[in-house]
Amino acid sequence: MDKHCNPLQIAESLSETWSPKVISQLDNHYIKVAKLQGSFVWHEHADQDELFFILKGSLLMEYEDKKVELQAGDLHVVPKGTMHNPIAAEECLVMLIEDRGTAHTGDTVSSASRSIEEQLGSFVSKNR
Ligand code: NI
Repeated sequence: MDKHCNPLQIAESLSETWSPKVISQLDNHYIKVAKLQGSFVWHEHADQDELFFILKGSLLMEYEDKKVELQAGDLHVVPKGTMHNPIAAEECLVMLIEDRGTAHTGDTVSSASRSIEEQLGSFVSKNR
């Protein structure tokens, strides 16, 4: 593979928060980056695990029964069927690995929800 991309650089270039962008694909999964700041919305993905890799900053993953603190370099998988709410007290850059069928906010529809078309943007064609 002669093409590559730099997830951190792409994440740093994003202007909108909580709006993941697909940067590559791996079989049935999308690799995405996102810029996070503030609190998101409580949601769950009934049938898909969701991988978070922290590129920069820190993130608090809230669950109904616990909180998981993540720092740059940490990897965390949100188990399928588990209510969660990511909170970034300050700007946080993340890389996500998700099944193609994963909805941004699961079954919870809100103004924060981004469709896969919105997430695909222009990065995939550029980086593959
Ligand atoms: Ni989620």
